[in-house]
Amino acid sequence: MENNRLKIREISKVEIPDAIKISRIIFNSTDDNDKYHTQSLWEEKLNRDGILLGAYLDGVLIGYKFGYREDSETFHSWMGGVLEEYRGQKVATELLHFQEKLLQSRGYKYVTVNTVKSKYPNMFNFLLKQGYIVESTSEQKELDGSVVTKSSFKRAL
Ligand SMILES: CC(C)(COP(=O)(O)OP(=O)(O)OC[C@H]1O[C@@H](n2cnc3c(N)ncnc32)[C@H](O)[C@@H]1OP(=O)(O)O)[C@@H](O)C(=O)NCCC(=O)NCCS
Repeated sequence: MENNRLKIREISKVEIPDAIKISRIIFNSTDDNDKYHTQSLWEEKLNRDGILLGAYLDGVLIGYKFGYREDSETFHSWMGGVLEEYRGQKVATELLHFQEKLLQSRGYKYVTVNTVKSKYPNMFNFLLKQGYIVESTSEQKELDGSVVTKSSFKRAL
């Protein structure tokens, strides 16, 4: 992908519905299992010194990365992804690096992120490659009753 076609920028509160729309597609959300995609939850996260980044290809939103302040030193990267047809072209890498630079400039010392290897193997491997370290793991119960292992990553900025 030509670099000048891709722009990363912060998404404002009024643009939350655009980000929710692509996030629902990225995570294959359906109405009955969609507690993560409500306007009120995203506004609540954004109000916690949240940073919602969008990746725009020729002006079209194709990926996002959303996180918020955990404490004065730590930023928690909560959710993110790239639309399937645009994957494998370093969009997530650009989002991650943009986020890390922004966090450094805002005085954060650490970034944390949780993921489930069995559900999101690409994300899991990506984080390891980018120098994130698994700090702890825990069991998480899914809606269908199955139990998966959640890994909590941390990286010094
Ligand atoms: C994980 C995700 C964000 C990666 O987005 P992307 O734009 O394709 O990622 P990039 O092109 O920047 O590649 C980043 C890394 O992801 C991994 N990756 C990307 N595509 C991959 C593939 N097809 N197979 C295996 N690993 C892959 C690699 O580690 C890659 O690093 P590398 O190119 O240096 O080898 C994307 O696959 C996605 O949105 N998945 C669904 C949602 C999700 O998993 N979100 C995170 C939940 S915690």
